Amino acid sequence: MPPQRRNKPLADVPSFPVTLRVSPYSVPTPVARIIGVLLIAFPSLLAMAAPNPSGRSDALAISFLEKKLAASATYVGDEACSSCHPDKSDAYRQTAHARTSSLPSGASIHGKFSPGSNTLRTANPNLFFVMEADEKGYFQKGVLRTSPAEVLERAERFDVVIGSGRKGQTYLFWDGDALLQLPVSYWTGMDEWVNSPGYVDGTANFDRPIAARCLECHASSFESRAPPENSYNKTSLVLGISCERCHGPGGEHVARYRSESPPRSASDSAIVNPAKLPRERQMDVCSLCHAGIGNSLTPPLSFVAGDELARYLQIPKIEPNAHLDVHGSQVQLLERSRCFQSSPAMTCTTCHDVHRPQRDLAAFASNCLACHKVESCRIFPKLGHGIDRQCVTCHMPLQETAQIIISGLDGRTLQPKVRNHQIAIYPDVHLP
Ligand code: HEC
Ligand code: HEC
Ligand code: HEC
Ligand code: HEC
Ligand code: HEC
Ligand code: HEC
Ligand code: HEC
Repeated sequence: MPPQRRNKPLADVPSFPVTLRVSPYSVPTPVARIIGVLLIAFPSLLAMAAPNPSGRSDALAISFLEKKLAASATYVGDEACSSCHPDKSDAYRQTAHARTSSLPSGASIHGKFSPGSNTLRTANPNLFFVMEADEKGYFQKGVLRTSPAEVLERAERFDVVIGSGRKGQTYLFWDGDALLQLPVSYWTGMDEWVNSPGYVDGTANFDRPIAARCLECHASSFESRAPPENSYNKTSLVLGISCERCHGPGGEHVARYRSESPPRSASDSAIVNPAKLPRERQMDVCSLCHAGIGNSLTPPLSFVAGDELARYLQIPKIEPNAHLDVHGSQVQLLERSRCFQSSPAMTCTTCHDVHRPQRDLAAFASNCLACHKVESCRIFPKLGHGIDRQCVTCHMPLQETAQIIISGLDGRTLQPKVRNHQIAIYPDVHLP
């Protein structure tokens, strides 16, 4: 069949056609439960310009880059740490940080490839996606019927998995050196394939670039080849968040402890222990990825734990009473809490041990009780010791984020819930 339709504009299906053939597929009839996802978190990522909005940062950028290059020679990777810190390393492998990006496998991709569960139908009755696995890998295929006899399709491989899967996952593919997002993602709460964040239901877009800032938060290391902004050295990509993202390069540390005369005192450890930094620098280690996207002032991955983040990333100031969404702003929200403002030593690690998964919500109450008495909760006279392990439920409630909106074709709107890090009194929250 001559591909005469190839260049025909498909207004509702941008960037679709690659192959044209008579398809063995029959397009499934639309079903009521058609789910579209509109995830508008970090919209600016998609069109992010080269990270240098201020102009002032050219010289800085160069000196930081030199420093980074000098340092990068001594990054050694997580395996090197595990021989001497097995207690940390073994548990760390199970965390959302370690698993936030990975190579595709049956285990790392949470969506299903089995017939019956491997299709995403869309608002366009002539367009659907099918997820397929074979010996060459895992593939997403868009299938568009253009006429009763003709079907356009485009299949791309899952090359990188983003997201531990606690809330969901999205998937990337390589087109040469260019890293792009696949149109279908996975949503854990519904255990279903869904349109990727920000994609319009009923379209098939294989053209969305993955900017460096995305990898800076979700991976350990990569070499940018920008421009264009989503061009990378493929083999340089190190997935997961490594120990050294929070501890700085470990080469010298390992060399010293492997030498004939290892350090006798931790002051010669030659590695960053965030617990020993001033509070602002400790917060900076987390703010790189938990204070929103910000404006990068230097090339990606320039920041090293211990540095002052403001020299690398401009995080917009927000008015003290302005609304803050619960998604991705844990740092700013915690900073608004009276607990934080009145406790000079409080940091993220007051409650979080980032070296192991923490899934027992009730156990967090012990962190509150390090500073508070159950009896000083003003609801205590009413509810008594029933509240002992429930502090978080009422004072750090789960709230819907307005940055992530999931819309179903049947008119439903779902919004995922995120833990609000502003510890405060929420009069409307009650125990379930
Ligand atoms: C050859 C063994 C060895 C290797 C490999 C090693 N460490 Fe250590 N590390 C030690 C010892 C020993 C200490 C000191 C422990 C103590 O004093 O309690 C230490 C201490 C630390 C500290 C605390 C330092 C301080 O000043 O408080 C951190 C953080 C750390 N290691 C991280 C890492 C990371 C990250 C890696 C991998 C890049 C790593 N280590 C690899 C042996 C090792
Ligand atoms: C500023 C850092 C940052 C950037 C940039 C960023 N993310 Fe995230 N992302 C996070 C954090 C932090 C979370 C989890 C915490 C939360 O929901 O507040 C998260 C959650 C996710 C999740 C859900 C993971 C799960 O299993 O629950 C996915 C998928 C995801 N991001 C994909 C992306 C993609 C794709 C990009 C780039 C296009 C991106 N993110 C850009 C920090 C970032
Ligand atoms: C998300 C950031 C982050 C990552 C990733 C991370 N750490 Fe840490 N690490 C910290 C912070 C913060 C502290 C200080 C507070 C604490 O002890 O929890 C710390 C403390 C330590 C210490 C010294 C304290 C102690 O208990 O001995 C060691 C050793 C250490 N980390 C090793 C590792 C190793 C090995 C890995 C990788 C398997 C790793 N860390 C990954 C943030 C991180
Ligand atoms: C390099 C970026 C980066 C840094 C640095 C970082 N985080 Fe994260 N963090 C993430 C991303 C991305 C996720 C979401 C992972 C996912 O679910 O895919 C996350 C998730 C988390 C979670 C949720 C874990 C879970 O099990 O769901 C906690 C808690 C957390 N981070 C705390 C911290 C603290 C505390 C620090 C500083 C010591 C820190 N993070 C530093 C990127 C980072
Ligand atoms: C490091 C110590 C510390 C920790 C940990 C801590 N708080 Fe606080 N909290 C404080 C201090 C100090 C204040 C302010 C008291 C004051 O100003 O009178 C406060 C204030 C509060 C308030 C009053 C808030 C308001 O806006 O009026 C509540 C509620 C509260 N804490 C609950 C909690 C809960 C729940 C946890 C655990 C999730 C927790 N705190 C953890 C130290 C802490
Ligand atoms: C007072 C205790 C406390 C402090 C301090 C704290 N957290 Fe949390 N954090 C929690 C609790 C409780 C949860 C909910 C855990 C769960 O639902 O499994 C949580 C969850 C998270 C999550 C997952 C959010 C979600 O809803 O999926 C992230 C990310 C996170 N914290 C990051 C941080 C960062 C970054 C800091 C420092 C700015 C911080 N936390 C400080 C108690 C705390
Ligand atoms: C059922 C929900 C609920 C639970 C569970 C709960 N609180 Fe509260 N707490 C409240 C409410 C509501 C108030 C404010 C009551 C008022 O002002 O009349 C409050 C007030 C407080 C205050 C402020 C006291 C003051 O004088 O300003 C603190 C501190 C506090 N709670 C700590 C805790 C701690 C610690 C826990 C866990 C042991 C806890 N709360 C569990 C609902 C709860």
